[in-house]
Amino acid sequence: MDDTTDYEFAVFDEWSLYDEIIERNYMKHAEISAAVSRDLSSTNLNPVNKIATNEISEIWDLGCGCGGMAAKILSGWSVSKYTGVDLSQAGLARIEANLSASVSSVCTNSCEIVDFLDQQVGVCPSVILASFSLHHFPMEEIQRVLELIVKHMDSQSRFVWIDTVRQTYETREEFNRRFLLDISTQWTSLVPEQMLEVEEHITQYDFPLDQIERERLLSAAGLTSQTISYQDPFFTAEIFTRLSAVE
Ligand SMILES: C[S@@+](CC[C@H](N)C(=O)[O-])C[C@H]1O[C@@H](n2cnc3c(N)ncnc32)[C@H](O)[C@@H]1O
Repeated sequence: MDDTTDYEFAVFDEWSLYDEIIERNYMKHAEISAAVSRDLSSTNLNPVNKIATNEISEIWDLGCGCGGMAAKILSGWSVSKYTGVDLSQAGLARIEANLSASVSSVCTNSCEIVDFLDQQVGVCPSVILASFSLHHFPMEEIQRVLELIVKHMDSQSRFVWIDTVRQTYETREEFNRRFLLDISTQWTSLVPEQMLEVEEHITQYDFPLDQIERERLLSAAGLTSQTISYQDPFFTAEIFTRLSAVE
């Protein structure tokens, strides 16, 4: 199977199921976005200002979908430029409506994440967000994505990585079993066909890293943790700086 085929399978063609997942807060968008927004607030993302303000000059949202997580994180912020990157036309079509309240210039890029990062020259956004998108990449590919992300970070930039994470030494199969059991008892509004769709997606296309793999890849890429904003038995939201970045 070639790379292109892998990525095509991970892309959402239809958005109503994920809308419901966000609306019902099944993937903790509310808690995660509040925690990330709080932690970004206490970070000085604007070198010209002496104190932290809720202003972002530029943010990239890798695997943005409909921008649901970004819109919640950025609610109440003033953002000059937002670029959402995704291959899903259904998701991208909703970006403008979801982001325009906090963002002056909303751009969408219908592009594969690696290609987008490869194509950018000389730009270091204040924030690079990847929310529930990188677990679609196999481990070797995540290494490449992380290295490309670091290339676009300066000492002030922050990388916000929100994703599913396996517990240490938990296999992918064990994680899936645990996650699907939780889903079957908690995601109660889904009808059987939707449950089946969720199960098929997770078992075929999701490759969450375990804690040790994740730390190894992050450190090899030159990223260091600033803060863990949110963590539960399935999801982690963590903010990174470039290694040896000076405040
Ligand atoms: C679970 S959704 C997350 C959406 C949003 N970031 C959020 O947190 O709610 C994952 C998104 O990543 C996109 N995606 C997955 N692999 C991708 C790739 N290689 N390039 C671009 N987008 C990708 C999918 O199309 C989908 O919209």
